[in-house]
Amino acid sequence: MAALMRRYGVGARWYDVLSGERLVYRAGRQAGIALLDPGPGDVVIDLGCGTGLNFALLLAATAPSGVVIGIDRSSEMLAVAQRRIDRQGWRDRVRLIRADAAELRSDEVARAVIDLRGGGDGRADALLATYSLSVITEREEAWQRARACLRPDARACIVDMQPPHGFWRVLSPLARLACATGGADIAARPWRMLERDAVDPSSVRRAERKGGHIVAVAATLAATRP
Ligand SMILES: C[S@@+](CC[C@H](N)C(=O)[O-])C[C@H]1O[C@@H](n2cnc3c(N)ncnc32)[C@H](O)[C@@H]1O
Repeated sequence: MAALMRRYGVGARWYDVLSGERLVYRAGRQAGIALLDPGPGDVVIDLGCGTGLNFALLLAATAPSGVVIGIDRSSEMLAVAQRRIDRQGWRDRVRLIRADAAELRSDEVARAVIDLRGGGDGRADALLATYSLSVITEREEAWQRARACLRPDARACIVDMQPPHGFWRVLSPLARLACATGGADIAARPWRMLERDAVDPSSVRRAERKGGHIVAVAATLAATRP
């Protein structure tokens, strides 16, 4: 746990450069957001948002009035995200919440949504988690708490990692090293929570990138029990 805090603490300022974004991981967020397919005006929760590498794509997809609520436990990662927001002039469309996802409070998320939108019931239309649920140790709790912030029939997408397959298996050691360096559990397969909680198996969409190392799964969610 302490190592994880350090990794996304002091390492935050180097994350965008050292995380393999251009070479490997951008492809996953692009595929995931395409599958999630948020619409104009939607409210999207970015769970474990890190430095905000999803924001530009999400804001473009939800333009002109959609908003993003970025949630992360690391104040250092959020500081980088906030600088990105300020630099890009996104203050009226993105709000950051510092929270452990496993203790996320839906009323806090609702307040941020209502504040940004100037009204409404505060529930989000969509949920995105890229490369975060494999790092979050209490992932089931985090997942359920994020679901509780969504409206009925909301859509969600989980983008995460597994060992590559087929010909690409030769790159498995590299993939495992990348995951270990980031504190991710390459065996977690967090998209299974989404497949389990989908309203209907026919709503599940899946894409793989980089030899299967990156998996993106999106679906419409079944309503949560009150
Ligand atoms: C590999 S980074 C992914 C960041 C971002 N989603 C992306 O696609 O670049 C994992 C992120 O999860 C965050 N994280 C880890 N455990 C968390 C928790 N329990 N609650 C909230 N965020 C957490 C870390 O601080 C880090 O920013």
